[in-house]
Amino acid sequence: MIKVLGICGSPRKGATEWSVRKALDIIGSYPGIETTFWSVRGKKIGPCIHCDRCIREKTMCVIEDDVREVESLILETDAILIGSPVYDMNVSGQLAMVLNRMRPHYLVHPGGLRNKIGAALSVGGTRHGGQEMTNLAIINFFLMHEMLVTGGLGGCYNGGKIWSKDDRVSGAEKDTVGADTVVRLAQGMAEAVLVAEHGRARARELMAESGKVDAGSSPLRDH
Ligand SMILES: Cc1cc2nc3c(=O)[nH]c(=O)nc-3n(C[C@H](O)[C@H](O)[C@H](O)COP(=O)(O)O)c2cc1C
Repeated sequence: MIKVLGICGSPRKGATEWSVRKALDIIGSYPGIETTFWSVRGKKIGPCIHCDRCIREKTMCVIEDDVREVESLILETDAILIGSPVYDMNVSGQLAMVLNRMRPHYLVHPGGLRNKIGAALSVGGTRHGGQEMTNLAIINFFLMHEMLVTGGLGGCYNGGKIWSKDDRVSGAEKDTVGADTVVRLAQGMAEAVLVAEHGRARARELMAESGKVDAGSSPLRDH
């Protein structure tokens, strides 16, 4: 089965969780795809303290908390959908901490996330409250980790965008325009996941035949 992981960056069971689950339901209805949901809600999550132990010792983050759960889910999955509530036109603090803590991935598992599919959605209390900016922050995380990004089918621009009117699930449910972007994001993501998954093996063959470096084993760039 192809695995798609949905990460929710809201500390509440609110509009963001509703939106991520809605997208996962659609993605999981495509052939051969199974989905997993993970949320920051109720989790013990500490910030990166820039101790640099990950760099010095080439280890995943040494902080022992619930980020460990998502660390391994990210490695095992073929694609990641991240949804965040918009906080000050950006991702939530909880999600930012999780993303910061993924820094060691490129050291410990070079190429581990390369060419996995990423997609973003965000939920603001205001119609134009920074959803596009928030999606961009998430997309930048995917790009940093060498992932391939889809914004969904035409009309979604850079991902799903919901206007909750600060009314949790019932607010999100009323935003039919926003819900359409979530549906089209999910459809575009499922399609991209299938294309990537079925093209990956052939891409490896072609690279091997032409003597190109295998994507999973290229050396780390020295920063
Ligand atoms: C600290 C904080 C900052 C916020 N900043 C914004 C913002 O910049 N733009 C916006 O549209 N909504 C903002 N909101 C509102 C939330 O994005 C909105 O209520 C969202 O639906 C919450 O998602 P949830 O229901 O999944 O928790 C903010 C909320 C909080 C708590």
